[in-house]
Amino acid sequence: MDRPRVVVTRDIPAPAFRKIWACCETRYWDSQEPIPRDIFLEWVQGVDGIYCLLTERIDPEVLDAAGPSLKVVSTMSVGYDHIDVEACVRRGVQVGHTPGVLTETTAELALALLLATARRLPEAIHAVKAGEWTTWKPMWLTGWDLHGATVGIVGLGRIGSAFARLLQGFQCRLLYTGPRPKPSVADPLGATYATFEALLEQSDFVSVHCPLTPETARLFDAAAFRRMKETAIFINTARGGVVDHQALYQALVAGQIAGAGLDVTDPEPLPSDHPLLGLPNCVVLPHIGSATVATRTRMALMAAENLLAGVAGHPLPHPVQGGTV
Ligand code: DGY
Repeated sequence: MDRPRVVVTRDIPAPAFRKIWACCETRYWDSQEPIPRDIFLEWVQGVDGIYCLLTERIDPEVLDAAGPSLKVVSTMSVGYDHIDVEACVRRGVQVGHTPGVLTETTAELALALLLATARRLPEAIHAVKAGEWTTWKPMWLTGWDLHGATVGIVGLGRIGSAFARLLQGFQCRLLYTGPRPKPSVADPLGATYATFEALLEQSDFVSVHCPLTPETARLFDAAAFRRMKETAIFINTARGGVVDHQALYQALVAGQIAGAGLDVTDPEPLPSDHPLLGLPNCVVLPHIGSATVATRTRMALMAAENLLAGVAGHPLPHPVQGGTV
C-alpha cells in the first residue's frame, strides 16, 4: 500500500521528524525560515497531510492547491488563527493543534516579561554594559512593584489561569475578563470578574491571554489605552493582532501608560526600525512564550501524532475545537 504523502513546512525537532519519516513520504522544508508561499503551494499538491507552523496561512488557496487527497492540517502551535478552520471542515479536512503542553511554559514567560518590564531589566542591563553605572543612585531605574498590585487578566483560559496561579505568591488582587464569568476556574484562584473597561481602569498590570478572533482583533485600541492607569504596564503574550500597535506607541509616548512588554506583535517579526523598538519603556521579545527545549519538543511530537492519526483517517488526539469532521 502507498505510504501517505505529507509536507512538513520547517526543520522541526528530530524525534517528531523521525516519527513522521518512518510512516510517510515526507517532503520537508529543511530550514529555520518559513517556506516561501509559492513553493508551499506547489508542494502541497496531492498530499494527504500538512504539518505547519503558525507562520503558514492555511486558507482556501492552500486547500485548493492540495486538492481532495488532503485529510489533515496539523499545526505545531496551540493558536490556530492562521488556519481557516471552517474551510478545512467544509472540505472534510481535520485540524489539529497542541493545547495544554505549553501552558505553564508560556505563563512563566508572561511572568518573566512582566517583571522584566516592571523592573526595567533591559534598560538596567544596557546601562551596565554602556558604562552608565557610575554609582548607586536613589531613584535610578526605579520601576513598579508586582506584590500587592492589581493584575487584570484578559482571558482566563488555560494560560491565563496558569499565570494567575503563578501570581499567588505575590499577594496580588486578581481581576479577569472574558466573554463570561468563569467561577469554577476563578474562585479557587481568588480572581474577580470585571468588565473589560473596569479591568482596564483598575489594573496596575494588564496581561493578555485571549485568542485572536474577530471579537478580539484590535481589542487594545486608543480608547482602551486611554482607560488604563498612567502607571499601568501592559503585557501581551497571546497574539499581536489583539493590539493596535500604533495606538500602543502613542499611549507609551504620551505617558498614558507606563510600559509594555510584548512577546507577540503584528506583524511578526517587527521590523527593526519599528518605532516601538526605540522606546525604553517597551520590551519586545521574538515570540518565545513556549520556547523551552522540553515544551517545543513535546509540541512537535503532539503535532506529529495529529498528523499521523489524520493521514490514517482516524480522529485526531488533539483536535481544534470545531476542527473535526
Ligand atoms: C502557540 O503555540 O500558539 C504559540 O503562540 C507559540 O508557541
